[in-house]
Amino acid sequence: MKTVTFTIDGKIVRADKGQTILKAAEAAGIYIPRLCACKDLVPHGSCRVCSVRVNGRIQASCVQTAAEGAIVESETDELREYRRNIIDMLFVEGNHFCMFCEKSGFCELQALAYRFGITAPKYRLLYPKRDIDLSHPEVYLDHNRCILCGRCVRASQDLDRKNVFQFVERGCRKRLQVNGEALSDTDLRAADQAVSACPVGALMRKRVGYAVPVGRRPYDEVPIGRDIEKKGEE
Ligand code: SF4
Ligand code: FES
Repeated sequence: MKTVTFTIDGKIVRADKGQTILKAAEAAGIYIPRLCACKDLVPHGSCRVCSVRVNGRIQASCVQTAAEGAIVESETDELREYRRNIIDMLFVEGNHFCMFCEKSGFCELQALAYRFGITAPKYRLLYPKRDIDLSHPEVYLDHNRCILCGRCVRASQDLDRKNVFQFVERGCRKRLQVNGEALSDTDLRAADQAVSACPVGALMRKRVGYAVPVGRRPYDEVPIGRDIEKKGEE
């Protein structure tokens, strides 16, 4: 397999030809924050949290392939601020109350907020009025917490071979819809990859609440991305 060599913040990184910058960085022990990208799912570059500068241009590293000799910047003040602003906006455009959320400590949005030192809303909270779909016997869908990352859409189609979720409308009217009147009309199961792919507390299994006590959950103990960075230090 052919390889390409490029740099990320001055560090030489080798990638397989066709590999994305995000994956190559990860293999080299460099963590680039991400939200809509998820292991085993085809990336689609929608959240822009993984943005880097490639030869001076801002690109989503989860979809941009590594090119020979490319100069990639990731941990600059500008890009940290850029990513942080996206995360700040995601918090205010939904209804996220971490202290009452069963996903706390497992939630990637919350974990990123901690990593970026976000402790209070930067923008005006919009408090949108959104529904919770409790119709399904095993799973519920809380639209208040949905960040429209599309991971459930892709996991349902590509991994579960179902078609439970889709997006409707565009721009600020965009929302997640299920394939039926309600979640109970679909063939979703609690064990489906679509459920575990959700990075926040929007798609949750019923009757398994607090199986791991708060304070002992993955991101309570280790900051998001630290596992990747550790590999780079070995
Ligand atoms: Fe993403 Fe979860 Fe919303 Fe699906 S339900 S789009 S996985 S946040
Ligand atoms: Fe790359 Fe969302 S992780 S755009």
